[in-house]
Amino acid sequence: MSSQKLEVLFQPLEIKSLSLKNRVVMAPMTRTFSENGIPSDDVAQYYRRRAQAEVGLILSEGTVINRPAARNDPKIPFFHGDAALSGWQHVIDEVHAAGGKMGPQLWHVGSVPNMFSEWVPAAPVESPSGLAAADKPRGEAMSDEAIADTIAAFGQAAADAQRLGFDTFEIHGAHGYLIDQFFWSVTNQRKDRFGGATLKERSTFASEVLKAMRAAVGADYPIILRVSQWKQQDFTARLAPTPDAMADWLVPLVEAGADILHCSQRRFWEPEFPEIDGDDGLNFAGWAKKVTGAVTISVGSVGLSNDAMSSFGGESSTPVGLDRLLTRMERDEFDLIAVGRALLGDPLWVTKVREGNQADLQPFEASLLQTLS
Ligand SMILES: Cc1cc2nc3c(=O)[nH]c(=O)nc-3n(C[C@H](O)[C@H](O)[C@H](O)COP(=O)(O)O)c2cc1C
Repeated sequence: MSSQKLEVLFQPLEIKSLSLKNRVVMAPMTRTFSENGIPSDDVAQYYRRRAQAEVGLILSEGTVINRPAARNDPKIPFFHGDAALSGWQHVIDEVHAAGGKMGPQLWHVGSVPNMFSEWVPAAPVESPSGLAAADKPRGEAMSDEAIADTIAAFGQAAADAQRLGFDTFEIHGAHGYLIDQFFWSVTNQRKDRFGGATLKERSTFASEVLKAMRAAVGADYPIILRVSQWKQQDFTARLAPTPDAMADWLVPLVEAGADILHCSQRRFWEPEFPEIDGDDGLNFAGWAKKVTGAVTISVGSVGLSNDAMSSFGGESSTPVGLDRLLTRMERDEFDLIAVGRALLGDPLWVTKVREGNQADLQPFEASLLQTLS
């Protein structure tokens, strides 16, 4: 890979009060190493290692807002309560000490069950219509009060992220979890103002969450919203089948307060609307940038031979070159690129890439998910 081509990855970027030294973002990855929901020093050192090795922006694993059934695993960290927040204070202090920038990914799982165990929260599971997927009832449909309290809890988490010194935060609006369950007609069958026949109507909940968070942090603090067409309940689901539908969905969310859209795909090189601009056409982040004008982050199998779902199935992944990524970044298709498993496999990934040390990059083995290396 020529060093000239690599330059595009190492351009600084300013978004409101956030200044980034390069375009590489560590993707949010749930690790379930937080006993009693409290991130420990091991968690802080795990992030610090990536900050030290030049990751431009670190997004934390999903960490849950203050709702009784917001998580689906007992070792997912809380983002509320003194003990957990002081754990997060230590995390951001360590990341800053190593010269890094970081935001927590703020999350409510809705009615998605644990992938690996039967664990359930003590309180009833909550979601827009008490459905986990089509014809799969699970838990309760949220009352007006539950919705108002959830919006307030997102607002409180935003205020806490800013108070602890995080540089930004990301709202998890993707992959079939709570916010996405409101977007998706399959799981949102409400007849009130949080439901409706159009995606725009079903985006009301996300807009209100964004407005509450924006009100909590002020105008100059950057807010990231993660969205996906695909759901873990249905990889083929598509919320927005056309660019116009995508604009109807995302423009109001940008107006409600999202500065950066993190557009989750499993493979970054897949065109979003090939029927319009061909097989090498814009990907999801490319189209999201085009229809909203917002800064966008792309993601999906960067630097690795297979996708995240194969890893969950236990397959190993080997390092691959970045030419396809650099070509898309050179044409300014999106602004930032998130890297997940490659950064788990090799904490020094960014440094090695910058130095052209491709041959030294370590593979990602599924067994790495058992440790916080
Ligand atoms: C172990 C693991 C945990 C993940 N947890 C989350 C999560 O908490 N929140 C989220 O939005 N995405 C999560 N993802 C998806 C990643 O953020 C990313 O989109 C995906 O791994 C694709 O990037 P990659 O191919 O570079 O790994 C997770 C992925 C992995 C492998």
